[in-house]
Amino acid sequence: MFIVFEGIDGTGKTTQMKLLAEKLRQQGRQVVETFEPTAGVYGKKLRQLFRRRDELSLQDELDLFIADRREHVATLISPGIAAGHDVLCDRYYLSTAAYQGARGGDVAAIIDLNRAFAPEPDLFVILETPVTVGRTRISAIRGEEPNDFEQADYLERVGEIFRQLRRDNIIRINAAADINTVHRRIMAVVDNFLMDS
Ligand code: TYD
Repeated sequence: MFIVFEGIDGTGKTTQMKLLAEKLRQQGRQVVETFEPTAGVYGKKLRQLFRRRDELSLQDELDLFIADRREHVATLISPGIAAGHDVLCDRYYLSTAAYQGARGGDVAAIIDLNRAFAPEPDLFVILETPVTVGRTRISAIRGEEPNDFEQADYLERVGEIFRQLRRDNIIRINAAADINTVHRRIMAVVDNFLMDS
C-alpha cells in the first residue's frame, strides 16, 4: 500500500502515521515511513526558507517542492513500492495543491504537473481539524511559534482547498478528537482497504 497523510498543520499527521506504521509492522508488513519536505537538498532549502517566505516567489517555491518530490519519488517512494513495502508518507502533492494553491497557484494545474511523475497513492488520508485546534496543538504541545506557512488566515484558505478536492482515493477523517479515537478511525479505513484489495 502507498498511503499519504495530508491536512493543515497541527492535525496530527505525524503522530497518526507512526501509530499506523506500528500496527502494520505488528501484522508482519514491511513499512517505509517518509515525509515531505524531505531531508534532501531541496527539502532542507525549503525548511530554511519557511521563516521568510516572502523572499521566495510562488513559482520558485513550487519549483523547489516539485524538485524535492521528484528526488523523493526516484530515491525512496518508487523503490519502496517496487520492493512490495508499505510506503507511508507525511504530506505529498495534495499539500502542494492546497498550500501553493492558497498562495494563488492554479490547483488543477499543480495536480496535473505532479501526476505526470508522482505515483498515485492508494489512499490520501486527509486529517481535518479547525485551524484554531491545529494552531493550539502547535504552540502548546510542540512549544513552537507558528511559522509563515502556519498563519491563521493562510491556513483557512489551505483547509478550504483540502475540503474542495474530490478524488476516489481521498478519505477524510475528523481529527479533532483524541489520538486513540483518530487512530481507530484511520484503522477502520485501512482495514477496509486491505479487505477490498
Ligand atoms: P510539515 O509537515 O509541517 O513539517 P514539520 O512538521 O516538520 O514542520 O511541513 C512543513 C510545511 O511545508 C507545511 O506548513 C506545509 C508546507 N508544504 C507546502 O507548502 N507544500 C508542499 O508541497 C509540502 C509537501 C509542504
